[in-house]
Amino acid sequence: MSAPILEVKDLHVAFDTRRGTVQALRGVSLSLAPGEALAIVGESGSGKSVTAQSVMGLIDVPGRISGGSVHWCGEPLIGEKPVRRARGIWGKEIAMIFQDPMTSLNPLMTIGAQLSEVMELHLGLSHSAALARAAELLDAVGISGARRRLEQYPHELSGGMRQRVMIAMGIACNPRLLIADEPTTALDVTVQAQILELLAQLQKDLGLAIILITHDLGIVAGLCQRVAVMYAGQIIETGAVDDIFERPAHPYTQGLLRSTPDLDGGSKRLVSIEGTPPGLVQPPPGCGFFDRCIVREEACRVPQTLREYQGGSVACRKAGIDAWKDVVA
Ligand SMILES: Nc1ncnc2c1ncn2[C@@H]1O[C@H](COP(=O)(O)OP(=O)(O)OP(=O)(O)O)[C@@H](O)[C@H]1O
Ligand SMILES: [Mg+2]
Repeated sequence: MSAPILEVKDLHVAFDTRRGTVQALRGVSLSLAPGEALAIVGESGSGKSVTAQSVMGLIDVPGRISGGSVHWCGEPLIGEKPVRRARGIWGKEIAMIFQDPMTSLNPLMTIGAQLSEVMELHLGLSHSAALARAAELLDAVGISGARRRLEQYPHELSGGMRQRVMIAMGIACNPRLLIADEPTTALDVTVQAQILELLAQLQKDLGLAIILITHDLGIVAGLCQRVAVMYAGQIIETGAVDDIFERPAHPYTQGLLRSTPDLDGGSKRLVSIEGTPPGLVQPPPGCGFFDRCIVREEACRVPQTLREYQGGSVACRKAGIDAWKDVVA
């Protein structure tokens, strides 16, 4: 296997709030090979976006990185001695797109002006060269009539079209990694499928590595090779997509899959996972899923760390038993 381009090790991120210090990330580790697509899944508040923001250098007051490291191609991106190059890495070698393109697109600038600005800044292209490449990019992300589109403003485009423009901006500087944070959540199912297909195509054509962040395990299969499942600021299971779908090992992952109706053709009974994740101001020292887990034991109150399991890894003493087999929603 080739050396990882991205390596996150034991990352801790905290937010100082009036309610106390929120331990948003509690020892997150992951690595990504060149050209690989990884999904980070988990419910709201589990730390998916904070993980992405850490990699992008976007953690700012009241947040802070309180431990761990992020390396890009072997060089430290954050931490005590971040490379001076880091500013050139963010936005160029690592790009990010968000759920709502309207928050990242400038409503007062044409699509062409926004796209070309990025390339003039990062690639040093002349304005006319950047505009020509902008048209090519729109073409590459499946927007027809590129020349005309360049003169339009964001509000003149549909939601799906705007997300395509965001992706064009994301890949404008030939990044090696594209982080997509819930890129399709605001879109209807058909458009969502088209956008995921576009990302898969770009991964193949450009050798682009992708981190897809989603709360919906159902959408990862067509794009991602590997999945990391987050819960309460920790990664609790990782594995190849097929393995996670066929043999989820952690009771939480099993529950997630069982609460997603159309994945297994209805062959399994649906369950709903009762309860809510623990507060992160004083997170429990042991398994974060303890209170909601139906196969918990007293011994689960001690910290559960990831261990190798079936080609992936899992942080559960009872990994592999079919936790929800007797439960009906
Ligand atoms: N700016 C902030 N100030 C205080 N707490 C924050 C801030 N940003 C994130 N958090 C906290 O960090 C934790 C992780 O948040 P994060 O946004 O990463 O969740 P997420 O998995 O992306 O959820 P969602 O699916 O809702 O986007 C949450 O408890 C959240 O409240
Ligand atoms: Mg988020």
